[in-house]
Order: sequence, then structure tokens, then C-alpha cells
Amino acid sequence: MNSVRLGIIGMGNMGKFHADYLLAGKVPRAELTAVCSTSPAKLESYKAVQIFDDGEKLIRSGAVDAVIIATPHYQHTSLGIAAFEAGVHVMVEKPISAHKADAERLIAARRKHPKLVFGAMFQFRTEPRYTKIQRLIQDGELGDVVRINWIITDWFRTEAYYASGGWRATWKGEGGGVLLNQCLHQLDTLQWLVGMPARVRGFCQIGRFHNIEVEDNVSIFMEWKNGATGVFVSSTGETPGTNRFEIVGTRGKVVLENGKLTFTRNDADMIEFSKAAKTGFAKPETTEENIPIENAEAPHAALMQNFVDAILDGSPLMVPGEEGIHSVELANVMLYSSLIQQTVELPMDSAAFEKKLQQLIADSKFQKKVVEVSGEDFTKSFHR
Ligand SMILES: NC(=O)c1ccc[n+]([C@@H]2O[C@H](COP(=O)([O-])OP(=O)(O)OC[C@H]3O[C@@H](n4cnc5c(N)ncnc54)[C@H](O)[C@@H]3O)[C@@H](O)[C@H]2O)c1
Repeated sequence: MNSVRLGIIGMGNMGKFHADYLLAGKVPRAELTAVCSTSPAKLESYKAVQIFDDGEKLIRSGAVDAVIIATPHYQHTSLGIAAFEAGVHVMVEKPISAHKADAERLIAARRKHPKLVFGAMFQFRTEPRYTKIQRLIQDGELGDVVRINWIITDWFRTEAYYASGGWRATWKGEGGGVLLNQCLHQLDTLQWLVGMPARVRGFCQIGRFHNIEVEDNVSIFMEWKNGATGVFVSSTGETPGTNRFEIVGTRGKVVLENGKLTFTRNDADMIEFSKAAKTGFAKPETTEENIPIENAEAPHAALMQNFVDAILDGSPLMVPGEEGIHSVELANVMLYSSLIQQTVELPMDSAAFEKKLQQLIADSKFQKKVVEVSGEDFTKSFHR
């Protein structure tokens, strides 16, 4: 095989975005051969490729070697499983599933087809602002991580955004709110950089700023096995909002804010310094370094290229799909802890959360009025 025939299932904002760069030839050795949407109007401009109104028909058509699943969240699992069973490679949009139990089902299906490539669209992992933080941690420059704070409250969304899709911000259509949708990239990045916490206590406000039935304002406390602590704060109702990511280690502090990455380095490990110091108010000397961060040119296309290279050449995946379960678990556990008003230990009980979600769906009295928004620049939603 010299090139990969790709099909996109779900041609809304994100599916169209993937189609545009694929048709523009931005991913060598990838050929868009089929698209699918349950909204026929979204397919009118795709004359040169095969068109389907049902994802499973596209998967079984023989027209594709691989699919990109860019539908609402719940369908990621059913379509992903159908693709694996048909011998088709899968790149799934975030979140890999709407909840952890579904993610386990998707991963179990992949396990039966180990030769198929399974990637997840977490493009932050290709971006220098995060890869440089990863390097600082992995090289031991930061020392042992002791505290993490991420305030990510610049996800401002209007009522028109929530009204733009029937699935959005509903338990039945989306499975969660700001945590599962907007913050999934940050939650993936967090666990990728510092691993999963051991326990979580969430405080989530449901429909605080919008007429929605899911969370849109959250404050979360996390604790890691080694005693490191973390606070994660997010909102879609606040503006101008803040995006400040701060990681403290025993050898210094790294801050990513306003497009700047700053590393303040301690000239000694703070714990060792504290033990050895002979006076009470002494501190290690510090030096401040501004770490240059190049703009990521086309992170989605870069990850797609990696997926294509993995299929054709066996290159290692930058984001194996299986790793997507962690951000789903974090989004779920943060919400679950809030709903049951208790601290929850990880790994969380996926069946207990699924039961809670089913109950929320069954009890829902929410009536959604859909008003489509047209002509808006969707790429403004990408977090730069
Ligand atoms: N990686 C990123 O940067 C990024 C950014 C935005 C959205 N996303 C993800 O992309 C996915 C889609 O989000 P969106 O904003 O494009 O939503 P959207 O509502 O704009 O589009 C979803 C599309 O899927 C179609 N659809 C629904 N069910 C389907 C089915 N069973 N088969 C085929 N098509 C179906 C709908 O008709 C709609 O056109 C979500 O999982 C979202 O989290 C990822």
C-alpha cells in the first residue's frame, strides 16, 4: 500500500476541517475517498469523493482503509468498534468515548485486532508549548513535581453555541459539559505530563452561566500518589478568562501563560535546601528563563500524518488511542465526585459512573431548541 484511503464520519465543524486540509494535500500519502454525515446538507460540496449517510455503510464500503470519527461523542464508541470489526484503522476525535465504560469497550474491540492502527486526535501533544514542558520534566530540570495549577477559564461560549447542535451540552447527546468537551485537551495534556492523580474532589456547577443541563463552571482538587497536589479550574461562562498553567517542582517553577513559557530555576533542590539551611528565612537563588515556543503550524494535520505513517511504515503513534481513556476518566471522575459530593479514588468505577449518567439521562426534562449558526470561523475555537 502506497497511500491510505481515508473516510471521515461526521462532517460538522471538525470533520470539515479535517477534509479541508486533506483535500489541500497537507498530509502526503493520505487520500480522502469518502465522507459521511447524517446531515445531507453537509455533504453537498464533496463531489469528488464517495458520500454516505450512515457511518457503518462507509466503514463496510471497501472505499476506505481508515476512518476519522468526528461525530458527537457517543458514536465514537459504536463506530470505532464497527471499524475495528471491519478491519479498518481508526483515528478518533476527542474524547475517545463519552464515558470510561464505553472507552473500555472500544479498547477491548481494538485488542482483538492488534494489527489495526488506533490513534486519537490530541493535537496538543505535537505543540512546542507542551513538548517543551514535557522535556523539562523528563530531563529532571524541574525536580519532583509537587503542585499543579491550571486555570483555564477562557473557553467563553455563548447561548448560540450551545443551541447550535442538538447533541451539545446534554447528558444524552454529549455525556458532559466543559470538562468532557472543551477541557479534554488540557486533561489529556495534564495526565501525559504528570500522570493520573490518585484521588479527586470536584465541585461542578451545572448550567451556572447557560441554559444547559451539564457543567459549565468547575473547580477541582487533585492529589497524586506521591503527595503532589493540583487544582484545575475551568468555565465557559467567564470572559476575558485566564489560561495559566503552572507546575512547581522541587527545582523550580514553570508557567505557561499569554503565549509565554517561563522557567524559574532554583539553584538547589528546595527540600534539600530546607533541610540543610542554618537560618530560617533563607531561600535558594533563582534564575528566570524565557523558553522560546514556536507556533505549531498545523497540529491536527501533523497528528494525521503520524497516523498515516503508522499505517504505512509502522511508525510509533504520538497518541495511541488507548491513552485517550485517561482524559475521559478525569472528566468523568471530576464530575462524578461533584455529583456524589465525595472524594473519589482512581481508577474510578466505570460502571458506577455509567449508571449515574444513565440516571441523569432518564431524569432529564431539558428541552433543546436547536438554532444552527452558519458562516462562523470555527477555528477560533482552537485553544492557542
Ligand atoms: N481536536 C479538536 O481540536 C476538536 C475541535 C472541535 C471538536 N472536536 C471533536 O469533534 C467531534 C465533532 O465536533 P463538531 O464540533 O464537529 O460537532 P458538529 O455538531 O459540528 O458536527 C457533528 C456532525 O456529525 C454528524 N453526525 C452525527 N451523528 C452521526 C453519525 N452517527 N454518523 C455520521 N455523522 C453523524 C452531524 O450531522 C454533524 O454534522 C466531537 O467529538 C468534538 O469533541 C475536536
